[in-house]
Amino acid sequence: MTYVLGLDLGTSSLKGLLVNQQGEMIVSASADYPLSNPHAGYSEQNPLGWVAAAKTVIQKLISEKPQAMDKISAISFSGQMHSLVLLDKKQNILRPAILWNDVRTTKECQYIMEHAGELVLEQTKNRPLEGFTLPKMLWVKEHEPDIWEQVATFLLPKDYLGYWMTGNIQTDFSDAAGTLLLDVIHQTWDWKIADIFELPKNIFPKLVDATEIIGTIRQDLAKELGLSPKIKIVAGGADNACAALGAGIDSEDKGLVSVGTSGVFLTFEGENIRDYQGKLHFFNHVIPNAYYSMGVTLAAGQSLNWFKQNFAKKEIFTDFLAEIENVPAGSEGLLFAPYIMGERTPYVDSQIRGSFIGLDNRHHQEHFVRAVIEGITFSLKDSQMIMESIQQKRLKKIVSIGGGAKNKVWLQIQADIFETEIITLQTEQGPGLGAAMLAALGCGWFNSVNEMIQTFVQYGPSYFPTETANVYKKYYVLYKKIYHATKELSHELQNLNT
Ligand code: XUL
Repeated sequence: MTYVLGLDLGTSSLKGLLVNQQGEMIVSASADYPLSNPHAGYSEQNPLGWVAAAKTVIQKLISEKPQAMDKISAISFSGQMHSLVLLDKKQNILRPAILWNDVRTTKECQYIMEHAGELVLEQTKNRPLEGFTLPKMLWVKEHEPDIWEQVATFLLPKDYLGYWMTGNIQTDFSDAAGTLLLDVIHQTWDWKIADIFELPKNIFPKLVDATEIIGTIRQDLAKELGLSPKIKIVAGGADNACAALGAGIDSEDKGLVSVGTSGVFLTFEGENIRDYQGKLHFFNHVIPNAYYSMGVTLAAGQSLNWFKQNFAKKEIFTDFLAEIENVPAGSEGLLFAPYIMGERTPYVDSQIRGSFIGLDNRHHQEHFVRAVIEGITFSLKDSQMIMESIQQKRLKKIVSIGGGAKNKVWLQIQADIFETEIITLQTEQGPGLGAAMLAALGCGWFNSVNEMIQTFVQYGPSYFPTETANVYKKYYVLYKKIYHATKELSHELQNLNT
């Protein structure tokens, strides 16, 4: 029996998943790392923290299953998207990585819009957003010229792990698509965009498929970690694309809803090229020559965690959620808009902020918790609505993963708000399973993605829309008004606050 290892480099932790050829998860482990917010809106991380976490995870896995860890054929990665890693010519890290949820780059986004807005939309199929990599590069160029001068290459987070494991530098198409520098159709760096913003060609990493073998594990590292020196390292890809692969999203009638720190609503596009004019993201998939469409709620799980941390810190999570089933749909007139980090889809507004609307002296903590959950789900419905209207179709099923799939009441809320069958996974492993699947494809375990999905992905119970869907329809109409009603106020508050 041989195994593959998937490493998922998330925003707060790195998770490792050892999987056998039947697609069974043998053992998993994780290690946390801190996030630093040196100024309002800044979000940074030290890439060496990712390496330390990867070592810890591998050591934990070895101590749990030493005999299996000896027989790993390949390792691959899934990683937080867009975050900028800068290396000098000796491959030293030049500054902390600027993460996807860092919103310091509003000015740079405006600059990109003014100087190459149409070209960027046409070539990359996405509009400039604070989270994406190009604005971050322009910020460093403008504010830290001494650092910019030393840049020999830029990478995305999971590529730094690939470099650490092999000594080779590259990125894959799914992560390159999140930089705003990829011609997503021709799958090449877009040198016109690079020229307009005076980005030297030699700092761009080589482009590879997510399933490509990028090298064999460094011999010294294999020895240090106690791993086989023959392990192949496979490029890996963007976390959302990996999550979609791990959830078996391989047809256009199946959507994915995922609640992590951020929340995403995603559909598989095969070879369809979509032009959303920036209303939704359109990215290259980890499945070669395929694409996916995606909308993002910036603070999904983060909104619930924020609420718990501040108002129910001591409660364990299951207790915290226990009472929501006793609160009627609509939380007795309490609405929540999850804009605590600004918003991406559908409003693209880094200055909007969250709100509870309709506070009443009958409301208790459980109303707030349910309202937060409903608000996150309404926000994801915004993405579903844009997708279905532009694609002129109704999704048949939506696979739910992440925080939203861990609670039965929330799953039913999703079925009612999305008005679509919600499917769960039997054992959900998140993007780490997608990473393990890329390793499996890369080392030739399967002839087709389809065959692999049949082996690796098993579905659990489904949840169907009920009459409550009609109640939610009415609340959704009101939810949609919150953004417009609070926009000006939010922006003025933000201005007072800076
Ligand atoms: C997607 C995005 C986030 C990160 C989270 O565009 O910014 O979902 O990928 O890791």
